[in-house]
Amino acid sequence: MAVVKNTFGIADISREFGSVKYMKEAQALIIRDLVKEYDLSEFLEIGFFHGKSSIYMGAILREIGKGHLLTIDLEGARKKSPNIIDLIAATGFADLITPVFAHRSYTWELAKLIRDGKRELFDFCYLDGGHTFDVTALGVMLVSSLMKPGGILIIDDLDWSMANSKHYQEHPEQAQKYSVDEQNSQGIRIVWNKLLPEVGFKKIREVPEHSWGIAQYM
Ligand SMILES: C[S@@+](CC[C@H](N)C(=O)[O-])C[C@H]1O[C@@H](n2cnc3c(N)ncnc32)[C@H](O)[C@@H]1O
Repeated sequence: MAVVKNTFGIADISREFGSVKYMKEAQALIIRDLVKEYDLSEFLEIGFFHGKSSIYMGAILREIGKGHLLTIDLEGARKKSPNIIDLIAATGFADLITPVFAHRSYTWELAKLIRDGKRELFDFCYLDGGHTFDVTALGVMLVSSLMKPGGILIIDDLDWSMANSKHYQEHPEQAQKYSVDEQNSQGIRIVWNKLLPEVGFKKIREVPEHSWGIAQYM
């Protein structure tokens, strides 16, 4: 039977999974600081990709000795190598992390929670999936419905645009349905600059080196 080392900390993850995209140790350390400063423990993550950021968050939860992470990506994320299931098994964080593979979008996974009457489930959200304006604007509204007052939201990729996206440069046909204006615009930044207060968030600060915005749900 495989022996799982169940004491993975942030530095262990950086060492063992350093070549796995995407989250970097410096980002995990910012999350850890926020978790301690605001006493956060019920985490939601949108977009796990390989699950690197998820296991960093697992290490933070293990360190504080409480809490849980619900993390959502698309069915296609199962095909990643390694995938999140592999990383959870390797780190022994199955008791801390629940991955959800959405059929179409995380927005529907959150909609189901709201439909079922759930509120105030999370005190931390890392929003790192679905970068277009439509998905992000709807996403922050849905997240706000599920946040506890005082909870912290990190939005990644504030300066993302379709025009600068490697994915859309490689698949220009997928950008065709968007106007040139929309392709060149930074939809996430519009949400950050203009919409967040409308759904109850107060901006705390930007972290330009990681293209992050940090806000608090009031
Ligand atoms: C940048 S990656 C996440 C990286 C990860 N948070 C990390 O730091 O290791 C973005 C992920 O968002 C997912 N994604 C994009 N649109 C989505 C949607 N509408 N619903 C769920 N996941 C989505 C993609 O499949 C991709 O895996």
